[in-house]
Amino acid sequence: MSNDLHTGFDETKYPYINKGLEGIVAFSTTKSSIDGQSGELIYEGYNIDELAENSTFEEVCFLLWNDRLPSQEELDALQEKLQTRRELPQVIIDYLHSVNKKSNPMAVLRSAVSMLSESDIDLPDDSFYEKAINITAKMPTIIAAFSRIRSGEKMVAPLSEGSTAYNFLYMLNGERPGEQAEKTLDLCLILHAEHGMNASTFTCRAICATMSDMYSAVTGAIGSLKGPLHGGANTAVMNTLLELAEQGENADAVAFTKDKLKKKEKIMGFGHRVYKVFDPRAYHLQKMAKKLSEETGQERMYKWSMDMLNTMKSEKNIDPNVDFFSATVYYSMGIQPDLFTCIFAMSRISGWTGHFIEQAKNNRLVRPRALYVGEKNKPYVSISER
Ligand code: CMC
Repeated sequence: MSNDLHTGFDETKYPYINKGLEGIVAFSTTKSSIDGQSGELIYEGYNIDELAENSTFEEVCFLLWNDRLPSQEELDALQEKLQTRRELPQVIIDYLHSVNKKSNPMAVLRSAVSMLSESDIDLPDDSFYEKAINITAKMPTIIAAFSRIRSGEKMVAPLSEGSTAYNFLYMLNGERPGEQAEKTLDLCLILHAEHGMNASTFTCRAICATMSDMYSAVTGAIGSLKGPLHGGANTAVMNTLLELAEQGENADAVAFTKDKLKKKEKIMGFGHRVYKVFDPRAYHLQKMAKKLSEETGQERMYKWSMDMLNTMKSEKNIDPNVDFFSATVYYSMGIQPDLFTCIFAMSRISGWTGHFIEQAKNNRLVRPRALYVGEKNKPYVSISER
């Protein structure tokens, strides 16, 4: 029967499909607001530029989990919890040692986060705030540990002091980072923390809406972020720049970009479903990319990036998104390209769990419809006669 008695939905009369759910509003939220025409991004009422200038990642976590900025006392308490919950359960350390070293780090992160649910088995199901802290505290340890183990190095135990950015760089490189490296990564974490109803956040909320648990929702979200049309784009951007580098010092990024466009290939790190102007996060990342590439002798990467940016603007009128310059920033910091998306996840965990908490407070099952375009009433033919 095509007509749904409860909703009046008649699939034969449905006028159109919003392919990719473009323009569909599925949830209300206070987490963030994006104005795609003016290029404005707001977290819980605060402009991203203000937060980038004045805040820290931990403060943004508090903001997204509590809908307000913390007092100093509240921030100290959150920081202490994050610092003291960084250690991994043995079962995950064993997993990181046993998993194939060639595995995609996002796949490893996804499985390890799923296994993390064991570590808070005694927490009540609705201890969402505590669970959000647990996952946020442990994700950097998982990423850094896998990075070292796969290179044949010993994993570095987390510090019970310092910011998320400081501790991550320490665990990754085995030495304490300088103030500038810590600040740069902290700013990247602020900029990637939250972004409306993107694909991974939608996944997280849809899983939450079945009244499943936070670990399931975050595991699903990591899987969604991994794709190159979403968070995986930052690694794809770096691969494009490295492909260019293979052509030598004098590689022509303009011709390279035009050639890809001619072949109808997408240029990673450009375009956005919502922004029709320069992504406001990309401004901050561009500034960092320029500074860092000069300091580390990677000027040519930055020049190629600008050549690509100008070509995309003149040929397609498409601007860069958050992933474009973040690639050069992480590369200049000496981070391996296939870890870039994990760093995105390590930040976006704050937004995902903020949305989970919000969804759980005012829940309804997420259950859209599909337009059936197949045949109906086909006679069943027995297998011996097919
Ligand atoms: N390179 C070349 N052409 C592009 C690009 C691009 N990066 N992005 C969009 N277009 C063109 C596309 O070919 C299409 O042209 P036409 O109408 O002539 O066929 C038009 O712009 C619309 O593109 P679309 O793919 O239908 O747009 P969408 O809203 O479905 O997709 C997007 C948005 C981000 C998936 C897309 O812009 C894209 O694939 N970009 C590259 C991947 C990327 O950088 N992803 C990161 C997104 S931002 C951060 C995040 O969420 O993780």
